[in-house]
This record gives sequence, C-alpha cells and structure tokens, in this order.
Amino acid sequence: MSHNTIELNRQQQPLDHLESVWLFGYGSLIYKADFPYLQRRPARIHGWQRRFWQGSHDHRGTPQAPGRVATLVPVEDAHCAGMAYEVTPDVFEHLDHREKNGYLRFFTPFEWLDGGGSVEGLVYVANASNAAWLGEADEQEIARHIARSEGPSGKNSEYLLRLAEALREIDEQDDHVFAIERELRRLMV
Ligand code: SIN
Repeated sequence: MSHNTIELNRQQQPLDHLESVWLFGYGSLIYKADFPYLQRRPARIHGWQRRFWQGSHDHRGTPQAPGRVATLVPVEDAHCAGMAYEVTPDVFEHLDHREKNGYLRFFTPFEWLDGGGSVEGLVYVANASNAAWLGEADEQEIARHIARSEGPSGKNSEYLLRLAEALREIDEQDDHVFAIERELRRLMV
C-alpha cells in the first residue's frame, strides 16, 4: 500500500452524509488540535496498544530520514486512552491530509473516561502494510532514532515529549511512551 492514504480514506469512508463525527486521537492529535471541533472528551479504546512503530516522512522526518511516530497495534485485552473530538465532516479534508503518511481511518467504539457510556467514532491507524512502516524496535533504539530526527513539523523529540505530557494530564500510564521519554531525556542532557 502506498503511504499516501488521502484517496483511500475518501473512497473507503465517505462522511458527507453525517452531521458530525467523533474522532479518537492517541498521538499528536491529543495535544495538537489544529482544526475546529464542537467538543472534546477524554476517551479510550479497547484491543489496541500505542507504539512508536510508524515512520514519518512528512511531519517529524523526511523521506530520506523518516522520524518515528505513534500508531496502534492490535493487542487483545489492551486499552489505549486519548482524546476524542466531535467534528463536522468537512474537517476530514484537513485531517486526511495531516494523517496521509500511511494512516487509514475506520469506525470503532470509544468509552468515555469522564463519565459512563460510549460512542462509535473514527480512529486513524497505520498498519504494517503501509510503505512508511518501520516496525518494532526496543525503547532505547526508538529514543536514539527520535533524538536524531526532524521534519517540517519540527523535532521528533518534541512530538514524543508533548505526547508524554499530554498522557500524564489524562492520567494514562503508558509504559512504552514513558520508557522512550526517560531514555530521550537522558540522551538530550
Ligand atoms: C493520532 O494522533 O491519533 C494519530 C497519529 C498522529 O497523528 O500522531
């Protein structure tokens, strides 16, 4: 699969018939909401784990030297907390462009963290079949990779550090992200 997913997302998941759509963010979408939204609420999804296994050619790296950013991998019994946004369907023009480097969106249920109940909404996930996939590495190696990477949206380290901060704000204990953060801070002194 090509790593540019704009057309695939438009064709596979047309949204124009909907009045509003919930979007679940688990990476930069938690701390960088550069789009209009109607409301936002912390939420979590089941059966997925956050991993820095996706390459970034367009935001935190370049095609020659991709950075490492978050995606979700399926893990039974796991859960992943993040931030959900209610948006109008036209906002996906911007979101599909922002998430074009290998991410496909699909509907999945989310559970609210600030009260009972759940909703169905979209999540962007980049899987192993996309051309920008980097795959598994240990947290020390991921931290070294992040420390040396930079792209049009800024330093890869900023992505990781802002995400770790945002996860603490919603009381999400993510051992993978926090282990990379510890190693990165050690490398940066
Ligand atoms: C997300 O935040 O939900 C997707 C990955 C990213 O843009 O960092």
